[in-house]
Amino acid sequence: MPVEIDIRKVLDTATTAAREAGALQKERLWSEHTLSYKGEVDLVTEVDRACEELIVNRISGVFPGHSFLAEENQYPEGDPGLRWIVDPLDGTTNYAHGFPWFCVSIAFEKEGEILAGVVYHCMMDELFSAAKGEGAFLNGRRILVSQRAPLRQSLIATGFPYDIARDNENNFENFIELQLAARGVRRAGAAALDLACVAAGRLDGYWECKLKPWDVAAGTLLVQEAGGKVTNHAGAPYSVYDHRILASNGAIHKEMLSILGRGAAR
Ligand code: IPD
Ligand code: CA
Ligand code: CA
Repeated sequence: MPVEIDIRKVLDTATTAAREAGALQKERLWSEHTLSYKGEVDLVTEVDRACEELIVNRISGVFPGHSFLAEENQYPEGDPGLRWIVDPLDGTTNYAHGFPWFCVSIAFEKEGEILAGVVYHCMMDELFSAAKGEGAFLNGRRILVSQRAPLRQSLIATGFPYDIARDNENNFENFIELQLAARGVRRAGAAALDLACVAAGRLDGYWECKLKPWDVAAGTLLVQEAGGKVTNHAGAPYSVYDHRILASNGAIHKEMLSILGRGAAR
């Protein structure tokens, strides 16, 4: 028997959890943080962990038995077909430095398909949300990708992996070539917000490599539901389990692909 999912209830729950976590992030932003390291530069603060606990508790209170794929912890396996993909604080390096550009990202996946996503930027009180087939919204108002082209007149964004100093897939060559081809490239430090900005037409394109599902699950749905295009760097359909993403307004996709497609691993 297929499980019936009330997508309104899913979105409402994700929204409540994201707003609560965002409030905590805002409240604690400029206080002293307890930092720990997941790698040489990959930080985690006590706020990342507290937000994840809050989000998981809030969601499992409403949907007991669902599964979680979240950044900071592992959870007992629930129904494998009903899974929440959570980045409790995307932009941790910014957060730890008091640079106010970070967000909460929560997505809901059913049988491998992302059906809903929410990205909350607490410092601007901006809640981006989307449900599959129902469009993308910012604080309840419909958003659409830009129509800007060509690439030369476009503002695009990227990011770099944490192991940049140790791995050849560091995105440097792509960065140089796209910086030369576009009007500008931003590296703001929160992948989910980069994607939300593409969805809202504030950025025209975004690419990155070596991301995790929780960085992109909500944001890719936002871009698709706002009329944009999301593929991997070879132009094939993108899954949140791929690690090379290209998201754009569609109009500059080919141009960006022609640059990204030149190098398989850089
Ligand atoms: C990071 C941010 C950053 C991206 C990194 C991610 P985190 O997530 O999204 O923009 O460039 O690759 O890992 O660690 O701040 O949640
Ligand atoms: Ca992240
Ligand atoms: Ca994170």
